[in-house]
Amino acid sequence: MTRLDWNSHPGRALQGSVRVPGDKSVSHRSLMLSALADGRSHIRGFLEGEDTRATAAVLQQLGVRIETPAEGERVVHGVGLHGLRGTTQALDCGNAGTGMRLLAGLLAGQAFDSTLVGDASLSKRPMRRVTDPLALMGARIDTQDGLPPLRVHGGQPLKGIAYTLPVASAQVKSALLLAGLYADGETEVIEPHPTRDYTERMLAAFGWPIAFAPGRARLTGRHSLKATNVDVPADFSSAAFFLVAGSIVPGSELRLPAVGLNPRRTGLLQALRLMGADIRIENERESGGEPVGDLVVRHAQLHGVELPEALVPDMIDEFPVLFIAAAVAEGRTVVRGAAELRVKESDRIATMAAGLRAIGASIEETPDGAIIDGGALRGGEVDSHGDHRIAMSFAVAGLVAQSAIRIKDCDNVATSFPGFLELANGCGFALAKAR
Ligand code: S3P
Repeated sequence: MTRLDWNSHPGRALQGSVRVPGDKSVSHRSLMLSALADGRSHIRGFLEGEDTRATAAVLQQLGVRIETPAEGERVVHGVGLHGLRGTTQALDCGNAGTGMRLLAGLLAGQAFDSTLVGDASLSKRPMRRVTDPLALMGARIDTQDGLPPLRVHGGQPLKGIAYTLPVASAQVKSALLLAGLYADGETEVIEPHPTRDYTERMLAAFGWPIAFAPGRARLTGRHSLKATNVDVPADFSSAAFFLVAGSIVPGSELRLPAVGLNPRRTGLLQALRLMGADIRIENERESGGEPVGDLVVRHAQLHGVELPEALVPDMIDEFPVLFIAAAVAEGRTVVRGAAELRVKESDRIATMAAGLRAIGASIEETPDGAIIDGGALRGGEVDSHGDHRIAMSFAVAGLVAQSAIRIKDCDNVATSFPGFLELANGCGFALAKAR
């Protein structure tokens, strides 16, 4: 298969309004809960990404009728908590760790067996973090030495547990809560640091009794979900590329309307502000139970920081683009406590370090982070290793490099941000598919 490369050329000042697509985490969850609900749910603002479409396709394989009345919309005809139908076909989660881990929890409570598979990147990602605690609940899931495919055995009676997560992970928390819907008794999840609480908020919106506070969630099994409409906010993680681009390109001013501002997602905003960024929030409001606002970013001279470790879970997907900001900031940036980056769609510490070095930046890898000394970027060739966020981060770097950056293996940008190239070029990027 030929892989798509991009060339990102030094650009002009970025201007305009950039409407980024729907939130990936919320889109996955809205499909799953709508599928298990009684009645018809209408989802608006749905992310038309490969990851979320893979989840929709899996649910369709399990007998759920899902319609697409328009782009960015889904109507899900819920089958009720016990209405899914098993299939002997493998269920393909594509590139999506969220899809696979949440579905593992959901399928553990079914009467039938299922097999979850993924692409080459997902097939290297650790699954014991979900299968071990699910086994404590009584689930039986076979892995290949801790990796996908997952063979989920149905018909296992589940019981609630109290579980303290060894690493902060919203995916693991959510898998346990979804299994908890089918369990006898109480399921409680305690986190070392609070993570995104979309599953908890959405379960409540679908009428499931749940108690939650930052770092804790608790529910009992055997209630029911009532269909509800979901408005998906724009994805802060997609807005992140434009927040950094607008900050580092002289003369820029960008507006990003209606971005989700759940505090468990906006760590990058705080990090960039600590670095001297000029980012304002306007029209703060609530939409579908989530805080949203318009973000306005203007160019500012950034300086290096020692990143507070407490911010790490709140900006876990934003490190690749933070590394770009750090590489062009004045002075040194130190990131610690972010070892989780090594088990994302790629080893994001290693991939970013190799890419940044290839374009002339000074970066030292550490086991759980990096030390980056800001300076000029030369341009050159970098390999995204098929990691969507790495590809988009180097597209941002290309705006301020001395010459073009060729970015290898960009197809997977469509997993989370379809239309990135067009949207980026619309506000002043000079990004082209390489021939
Ligand atoms: C997600 C949780 C995070 C994040 C991922 C989406 C979710 O993963 O990196 O992109 O939707 O719950 P972890 O739970 O592994 O930290």
